[in-house]
Amino acid sequence: MNVFIKTYGCQMNERDSEAFAGMLVKAGHTVVWSEEEADVLLFNTCSVREQAERKAIGKIGYMKKLKAKKPDLVIGVMGCMAQRLGDKLFEELPHLDFVLGTGQLHTIVPLIESIREDRRHVANVAESAAVLTGMGSHYAPMTGSWHGQIAITRGCNRFCSYCIVPYVRGREISREIGDVLDEARMLVDQGCREIMLLGQNVAAYGLGGNVNAPAPDHSPFADLLAEMNKIEGLLRIRFTSPYPTYFNAKLIRTIAECEKVCHNIHLPLQSGSDRILKLMNRQYTRASYMEVVNNIRAALPDVTFSTDVIVGFPDETHDDFLMTRDVMNEVGFDNSFIFKYSPRPGAKSSFVEDSVPQEVKEERNQILLGDLKNRVEANLKQLVGSVQEVLVEGESPRNPDRWCGKTGNSRLIHFEPDDGIQAGTLRKVLVKRAGTVSLSGELI
Ligand code: SAH
Ligand code: SF4
Ligand code: F3S
Repeated sequence: MNVFIKTYGCQMNERDSEAFAGMLVKAGHTVVWSEEEADVLLFNTCSVREQAERKAIGKIGYMKKLKAKKPDLVIGVMGCMAQRLGDKLFEELPHLDFVLGTGQLHTIVPLIESIREDRRHVANVAESAAVLTGMGSHYAPMTGSWHGQIAITRGCNRFCSYCIVPYVRGREISREIGDVLDEARMLVDQGCREIMLLGQNVAAYGLGGNVNAPAPDHSPFADLLAEMNKIEGLLRIRFTSPYPTYFNAKLIRTIAECEKVCHNIHLPLQSGSDRILKLMNRQYTRASYMEVVNNIRAALPDVTFSTDVIVGFPDETHDDFLMTRDVMNEVGFDNSFIFKYSPRPGAKSSFVEDSVPQEVKEERNQILLGDLKNRVEANLKQLVGSVQEVLVEGESPRNPDRWCGKTGNSRLIHFEPDDGIQAGTLRKVLVKRAGTVSLSGELI
């Protein structure tokens, strides 16, 4: 069968889609890139904000027309919205064939094969540890040849008060270190040079779902990084998203000692106000967050940070917002994802009033985006004249005469290619100019 997969949401969801594709291709099916060519349409959905759900429901609703023309078409919804709404989705979208929850990744192949034979509505949203067996499948065309991703944990136990993820992804589980390393070696054998380790709470890897900060010398995640660092042929290791309280002495020391681990850390802040952090059930304060930043910076002087921030959490005052703005400037984030608070049914904060008006959320969002833009421009300007090492990615998306690559600390540089240029190799570039979001330079 020809299968089309559309993915919404985070990198974990992208990775799940790649695993779905890997399992389907292994079973003899074909992944196609247009809906018209497909016998099966799969929508891997996200619930993190209302907008994400609305987008997917709109799109799946629209597929009714295609199904009217092609009655054999199988349409399935997977991922976090499937988990959250289960068989209720059939009421709104009667042309759907199945709803598959986040714990059932591994059952996709038999499911679509049986639905083709025996048409009926199927909803399966059971949590299952067997999901781990499905997580290792890959399909390179979806992520690229030189870059690969490995999900090392699943679920989340943190229950930040605004967040739906613990409800839709289930309890946090870690994969066996041997499985992760085998998967990494397999990717490297296939030409992969950079691996991104993924998890909603990635640095909690191997802690058995315990949410308390580990002792300073205990970090199974650091042990994994150290083992990954030994893999011959692998050039770079990245990871996302780590919760700030897991950066203990051992993890920071290990990152500094492992030359393949990149010096760009995504460190979700959410808010700079202690009062709001507490309401969010985030287990750090502004001061302890800054301590983590300073400890990492002391060990990795060239580190860059990126972050996630929510504006307009219930009861966020202008002063709370200014504290967030202040911390963002103090850290000097090179990238930030700024979200307007969206109440999620069932998450703890949804039981209090969404009190910050939409216009105020929008205004706070714009202020932070403006700060970010100015900061990134200033940070990039300082690099003109320096020599940077990039991992070559390929042609620049908007100008195929130029190529691009990223530094270890995630700065994008465009350059004129030479004859020997090859994606997935490390090259040195002299930075000539700084733009608003990237640099340009010459290979040396
Ligand atoms: N596990 C990751 C976050 C996953 S969700 C972490 O802890 O970093 C990605 C981001 O979406 C979050 O960091 C948060 O900033 C944002 N987010 C989550 N729930 C939200 C909500 N209800 N409204 C607005 N933004 C939200
Ligand atoms: Fe959501 Fe918090 Fe878990 Fe991240 S750590 S997925 S924000 S509950
Ligand atoms: Fe969305 Fe699920 Fe990821 S809710 S952000 S796709 S874990």
